[in-house]
Amino acid sequence: MDTQRLHIAIQKSGRLAERSLELIRAAGYRLNKSAGELSYSVENAPIDLWCVRDDDIPTFVADGVADLGIVGRNVLAERESAGRDGLAEVMPLGFGRCKLCIAAPEGFSYDGPGALRGARIATTYPNLLSRFLKEQGVEAEIVTMRGAVEVAPRLKLADFICDLVSTGATLESNGLAVLDTILQSEAVLVRNARTLASDLAHVADSMIARFRGVVASQD
Ligand code: PRP
Ligand code: ZN
Ligand code: MG
Repeated sequence: MDTQRLHIAIQKSGRLAERSLELIRAAGYRLNKSAGELSYSVENAPIDLWCVRDDDIPTFVADGVADLGIVGRNVLAERESAGRDGLAEVMPLGFGRCKLCIAAPEGFSYDGPGALRGARIATTYPNLLSRFLKEQGVEAEIVTMRGAVEVAPRLKLADFICDLVSTGATLESNGLAVLDTILQSEAVLVRNARTLASDLAHVADSMIARFRGVVASQD
């Protein structure tokens, strides 16, 4: 890794990938794709982009492998709920808005979190869900999955799910409806909690200022 360049971790594929690149281009950076499509180098600034799995971005940034990252607040918050630090949110980026919701088969009548008592809830966000349940004073069983959470009620793996909702299409096509929202999310810029070497701090500050300009112009 080149310590004379700033390293930004972005999502390789998924809902934030294309918008992350658009933001960086809109901020005036010219991107050159490297072989294998796993990274880009910026032509007109000492910056490299690494395209990685979204769930790996917090670890990359917290470990200092990357200086900054673009990730959903949901991913950052899940890590923080697990009691792991090393990351700070720099700014919201105004795209990738979604919410982390509790959902149930359509027709379930919900009168608040008490309705979840004793139930099984499937999620890929066990720490955020656990924190929510504790705050509500509700004991329930969390079924941790790696994905495809929306099929859990149909397979009788769980009574409820806790998952991201963006357009709502995934819930609808699985006969599920939102009961409650536990986190509002959007893409955020995250940074390593430690300070950067001064020449790179200048590069980072300039990039953050450009991002602020782009985000403000899109409001
Ligand atoms: C989320 C979630 C649903 C989908 C909901 O997954 O798990 O599958 O998006 O979006 P919708 O309301 O627009 O249908 P996502 O693809 O973001 O991430 P993942 O691959 O990490 O599960
Ligand atoms: Zn993911
Ligand atoms: Mg999904």
